[in-house]
Amino acid sequence: MTWREYVQKTVNKKPHELLMRATGLVESTGPKRALDLGAGALGDSKYLASKGYEVTAVDSEESIKYLAPGTPNLDVIVSPMENFAPDGEYDLVNAQYALPFIPKERFWNVLATAAGSLKESGIFCATFFGPEDEWHNDPMLTFVSKSELEEKLSTYNLNVLYNEEEKGLGKIAAGGNKFWHVFHVIARKHT
Ligand SMILES: C[S@@+](CC[C@H](N)C(=O)[O-])C[C@H]1O[C@@H](n2cnc3c(N)ncnc32)[C@H](O)[C@@H]1O
Repeated sequence: MTWREYVQKTVNKKPHELLMRATGLVESTGPKRALDLGAGALGDSKYLASKGYEVTAVDSEESIKYLAPGTPNLDVIVSPMENFAPDGEYDLVNAQYALPFIPKERFWNVLATAAGSLKESGIFCATFFGPEDEWHNDPMLTFVSKSELEEKLSTYNLNVLYNEEEKGLGKIAAGGNKFWHVFHVIARKHT
């Protein structure tokens, strides 16, 4: 399945619960900025925009730019995450089922840049794939153990507030099931 097909299939997908939980932890009171990496069909981005965030959505799949024309507070950037240079700082960085699709040689740099783009006390909210995931033999994807992940997050000044490990059979957008091993992480930036 191509990313274009994935985006078409998920166009009516609701925002992720992890993201809704994460927005409740954002402390800033003034105007808020959010970055959505690997934004896909923009469900999370539109949710954040509806909550008053000024949102930058980044995804390499070109068709996403036609999904939300004129949506207030939503800037859609078609680019690989690896090439995106954040301008300024964000109150919230979201990356749902997106970072694992970056090969390992570029993965930690993208994560470091994402963490570096957060304001102090900003919230990072992302999913990662664990080593027991059914796709773990795909060399284009990145899988991380819980300890490796938490150690790296701490080197990027991210304090883990929540890390739920999910293991089990579940649906894939292309149809059918696979065995998922996923970490659902919320962390807060500190100095
Ligand atoms: C599994 S989808 C998740 C989309 C959305 N976050 C969601 O949860 O529905 C992964 C998304 O990451 C995008 N993507 C994959 N590799 C990327 C890269 N290197 N840079 C930017 N986007 C990428 C794909 O185009 C796709 O939209």
